[in-house]
Amino acid sequence: MKNTFYSCCLAAFACVVLWSCSSKKAYTLQSPGKKNELVFELTKTGQPQYRFSLHGKSVIEPSLLGFEFHDIKKMTTGFKILSTESNTVDETWEQPWGESKKVRDHHNQLIVHLKESEGEQRLVDLVFRIFDDGLGFRYVFPQQPNLGKVKIANEITQFTFADDNDVWWIPVHSENSYYESYYRKTPISKTDTINTPATFETKNKLYVAIHEANLTDFASMTLSKSATNQYKSELVPWADGVKVYAQTPFETPWRTVIVGENPGDIATSNVMLNLNEPSKINDVSWIKPSKYIGIWWGMHLEKYSWGQGPKHGATTAITKSYIDFAAKHKLDGVLVEGWNVGWDGDWTADGAAFSFTKPYPDFDLEAITKYAAEKNVKLIGHHETAGASKHYEGQLEDAFKLYHKLGVNTVKTGYVNKFLDKKEWHDSQYGVRHYRKVIETAAKHQIMIDNHEPVKGTGLQRTWPNLMTQEGGRGQEYNAWSSDGGNTPEHLVTLPFTRMLSGPFDYTPGNFDFGYKTPQGAKVLTTLANQLALYVVIFSPLQMASDLPENYEGKPEFQFVKEVPCIWSETKFLDSKIAEYTTVVRKDTEGHNWYLGSITNKNGRQINVPLSFLDAGKSYKAEIYADGPGADYKTNPYPVTISSKTVNNKTVLELNLAPGGGTAIKFSPVPN
Ligand code: NOJ
Repeated sequence: MKNTFYSCCLAAFACVVLWSCSSKKAYTLQSPGKKNELVFELTKTGQPQYRFSLHGKSVIEPSLLGFEFHDIKKMTTGFKILSTESNTVDETWEQPWGESKKVRDHHNQLIVHLKESEGEQRLVDLVFRIFDDGLGFRYVFPQQPNLGKVKIANEITQFTFADDNDVWWIPVHSENSYYESYYRKTPISKTDTINTPATFETKNKLYVAIHEANLTDFASMTLSKSATNQYKSELVPWADGVKVYAQTPFETPWRTVIVGENPGDIATSNVMLNLNEPSKINDVSWIKPSKYIGIWWGMHLEKYSWGQGPKHGATTAITKSYIDFAAKHKLDGVLVEGWNVGWDGDWTADGAAFSFTKPYPDFDLEAITKYAAEKNVKLIGHHETAGASKHYEGQLEDAFKLYHKLGVNTVKTGYVNKFLDKKEWHDSQYGVRHYRKVIETAAKHQIMIDNHEPVKGTGLQRTWPNLMTQEGGRGQEYNAWSSDGGNTPEHLVTLPFTRMLSGPFDYTPGNFDFGYKTPQGAKVLTTLANQLALYVVIFSPLQMASDLPENYEGKPEFQFVKEVPCIWSETKFLDSKIAEYTTVVRKDTEGHNWYLGSITNKNGRQINVPLSFLDAGKSYKAEIYADGPGADYKTNPYPVTISSKTVNNKTVLELNLAPGGGTAIKFSPVPN
């Protein structure tokens, strides 16, 4: 990752206005385009407080800041401002992969140095960065005589709204430990404790998302309702009740508030990435976004088993046939689950039996990787731990070393269990430390990671671009075994404005067969054209074609899956309504072709799309995969009409989306 372009840091930024009242001092910081404004002040009791607005409209009302500890006095009130610093940053950096190639980091920063007026005179700094699309702030605890090792008992960062706004949210831990819930929309007053990203539709017509960035050696932040229209940070605890073990100097992750005037504004915000550190991997040439198939859906449909027996999926013969399919269709990788010792019996109960270096006898690892290399296909390894993270850590080095030697450059990890090591939450400081260890060890061995059952994404892929994608959401697998029937079309139109705000999602789109039957009776609840559109709508630099190979053979629609890229130079969200419809357009990294994905909920609709995003003065061939006559996700998901026409940036395309349907389009320039 390179740091390039107009980077300028101006000391002494002029927009910080200081004025004195009898009992308090307030600092106002505006975003570079003067759109957003932060006000920081100390209350009468000397407690830090902030508020945030967009063009004068309230985003966050006055909200308090502070920390409480075990065994020592809390740091909430009694502060004075020692000094402040401010500066402006305007720099553009390049991503090795992403939804856009270049990212502009343009913000104004204010650092407030605080000191307790009396007693131990402990220090804490508050760092605010304000962007035209949001705010980030963090606490920095410097090294100091009267604050060393601490056990954090409570973070009391508040997020106060002016109204009882609607919020899209998922619960914390009550349904599962890794965010695999439906997002629901309720007023704030009807929520309790919710996960971030939490997306608000405010009464003053703004879209606001609260989340965090750069979650490093800390507990993840959830939000508990603390008063009317107000949340406070609720850190996920260790099993012993401590939220975070730390020692000065330390800093918290960034707390983020993204704001925009329509849903697309929050979906395309780069605040989270900008608040992470630049890449720690200098040579990123081995990091390769890719499309893959896998010995995977077969297990979820119970055609194959992970464990040994007559239905064992990961055999040498079956894997070779998947490699043949990938080679034939120029797909980059083949994921193989159930290849290693440890799956027999109830593997979810206890991961202690898993070996990450010993294949089952019917899986010839060496021969298979050799075969894959001959066919120019990469094997994607799988490390399911069943939550036994310590057991896994004991084998990490050996496992990654083995994979590197055999040319396996990607590993899908998994943690199916309510807890890690039988007692710690996935999103606790314990889990955060474990996942980071895996990412860093993998980087050392040039391995890319696809993490299932993760802690939520907070933009770490900027620093560790081998962290390619994560689950952390209700993915396609629910359409095999979920007892509630499968993922609704509404869920898919909600994801871009909720789950996707935390980064890439290994949703695993691409279902082509709707006729399968599982004991639970779940179904893919979209049309086939919608499945194609998901490749554009849901970003993941490792993107799966999730269906069984035989379901793709001979299908003309598969051409779109083969051609659609999985990383982009530019992304735009067109007219969208959360949970109803969205249209996303993205340009490939070569900067030639545009792709469009449009999806709808259970209601069919006609959408007119102005193609003004296309380069002016060029004609494009639009290859259109649309819902065909009679298409309906419930009764007739298959019809797809494939057509092509010449368009330019003045054309307005009419899309007709079936109930649960979609449209996918490739636009390629026509030579003049
Ligand atoms: C859950 C993962 O999400 C899924 O993709 C995987 O197949 C199973 N665990 C087994 O590891």
